[in-house]
Amino acid sequence: MRTPLIAANFKMNKTVTEAINYFNEFKKLTADVKDVEIVVATPNILLYPLVNIVKGTNINLSAENVHWADNGAFTGETSAVTLKNMGVNYTVLGHSERRQMFCETNETVNKRLHNALKNGVKVIFCIGETLSEREENKTIQKVTSQITEGLKDITIEMMKDIAIAYEPIWAIGTGVTASSQQAQEVHAEIRKILNSLFNEEVAQSTRVLYGGSVKPANVKELMAQDDIDGALVGGASLKPESFIQIVKFK
Ligand code: PGA
Repeated sequence: MRTPLIAANFKMNKTVTEAINYFNEFKKLTADVKDVEIVVATPNILLYPLVNIVKGTNINLSAENVHWADNGAFTGETSAVTLKNMGVNYTVLGHSERRQMFCETNETVNKRLHNALKNGVKVIFCIGETLSEREENKTIQKVTSQITEGLKDITIEMMKDIAIAYEPIWAIGTGVTASSQQAQEVHAEIRKILNSLFNEEVAQSTRVLYGGSVKPANVKELMAQDDIDGALVGGASLKPESFIQIVKFK
């Protein structure tokens, strides 16, 4: 009932030329993909030259962040209005790198989320605990507060345009993947949180992606878990021939 969503997160990688070459290659590889939604988040500056390349393909482009205002005196920020006008329909929000290095908080993520949705930009909303939080058994407490505060004043209707990405920080870019059981446990808890905040339908229909060292070798086992509906892939998305294997996990 939940269509798998496989998303790439390029982070701050690739020049315009490299990105164009990637997409020209990748779109050929995705031509026969069915029943999987494909999203590729690139640095916001790369999106404009890519919009025309993905037209008519099954690849959705995504920003990596958007601001909470439509426009104004916010030097260096990206507007959801501009993204939508360009033909970009997704953004990642609340990635742990933004939370850890750029002072992003649950409150600012929530404000950005409202503005993205208001402008018709769907959101991949990232959450996850640090290694010390996991070791202190605070994982569920952490994701509960991230979800509760990050989704403040979000309605049941708005949840249709939000996917949650559970990314344990200790598994991002480290080569250490959460075991499929560890991931499944947290994903099941996330559905309980969604049930208590919204209702059972939202809990069952919201896609919950796993992120953190996902690669061709482990995607199948992760995707076999009941509550894992997709992946947010950093390092292993940077080469089309690697990312396509993750997209074609079945
Ligand atoms: P990784 O990154 O796949 O390189 O661990 C995932 C992410 O940060 O979204």
